[in-house]
Amino acid sequence: MYNQSLDKGPLKDDGRDQDEDRRIEFEHNVLAGYTVEPKDWMPEGYRKTLIRQMSQHAHSEVIGMLPEGDWILRAPTLKRKAILLAKVQDEGGHGLYLYSATETLGVSRDLLYEDLLHGRAKYSSIFNYPTLSWADVGVIGWLVDGAAIMNQIPLTQCSYGPYARAMVRICKEESFHQRQGFELLNEMMNGSEKQKEMVQNSVNRWWWPTVMMFGPEDKDSVHSKESRTWGIKRVTNDELRQNFIDVTVPQAEILGVDLPDPDIRWNEERGHYDFGEVDWTEFWRVVSGHGPCNRDRIEAKRKAWEEGVWVREAIMAHALNEKVVDRHG
Ligand code: 3HC
Repeated sequence: MYNQSLDKGPLKDDGRDQDEDRRIEFEHNVLAGYTVEPKDWMPEGYRKTLIRQMSQHAHSEVIGMLPEGDWILRAPTLKRKAILLAKVQDEGGHGLYLYSATETLGVSRDLLYEDLLHGRAKYSSIFNYPTLSWADVGVIGWLVDGAAIMNQIPLTQCSYGPYARAMVRICKEESFHQRQGFELLNEMMNGSEKQKEMVQNSVNRWWWPTVMMFGPEDKDSVHSKESRTWGIKRVTNDELRQNFIDVTVPQAEILGVDLPDPDIRWNEERGHYDFGEVDWTEFWRVVSGHGPCNRDRIEAKRKAWEEGVWVREAIMAHALNEKVVDRHG
């Protein structure tokens, strides 16, 4: 536990900024594996970048409910409907854990939501693509949740305690998400030609947007250097992307699907799969709000926020009433 009083101490008698010393000590401690807790002293930049990343992670989870939610009423069997319902509910729960973890940094959930609805906060690019067929539900589970697991497991070792602990629970549920997606596709790939065609078409549409999920290349990553110094990011964007491709290519072979990248081939020397050039223009186009579904996703969240006013007011009134009853016994 890294404990420092919250108040800013006076300047040292030699005039050096005491916070500079604290920052150096802070960085030394987080890299030595100390877990920072909400009441600990932390550099303002550390707090700010955590709010940025954690809130955008939470936004990604709740917006991630929309693409698959479109298929709950159209699931082909009761079993598939029950599995999809459970998964979409999980994503909502992940968002709530992460909003709660972000609030420990002294920021309100309402403000975070305002930032999302007004385009001041991002969410994962991957959720700006449409789910055009039932196979997309399987591919999202297999590829998107597979990528999420790759990206989220290192976050269980993040230097900020509330984030790391939220990740432990989330990663356990992500594993179910990925397995159910793979199993759904395996069933379809053992089905009719039409079903196999549907799966291949879906993989062709989702493969590259999934590879982009890991963020820009390390050379273009704005936050990686600082995030690694502060023990927030333990593995770089490029390393995570490469790990994901290395584990997914053999899975595609087992499923019997082709990945839409002719440059994928095992490189014995590197001990990794080589892969083709990512279309970064497409990535930044989608990240900057011009993807196929960006507008719909935000509109859906704005509608939910406005239609949910009465729920929030009722909960606040109930909580207030409880407080009054407690006080007067
Ligand atoms: N989509 C949207 N924006 C992205 C992005 C993506 N896939 N990748 C990067 N960006 C943004 C960053 O947010 C940053 O913009 P900002 O300064 O406005 O926040 C900018 O591009 C530069 O990227 P950096 O690499 O410098 O940013 P980070 O160091 O934050 O790395 C990240 C990006 C790897 C996504 C990192 O933020 C991260 O690991 N976040 C936590 C995990 C997460 O959010 N995953 C999203 C998916 S959640 C999910 O899949 C749910 C599952 O249940 C389906």
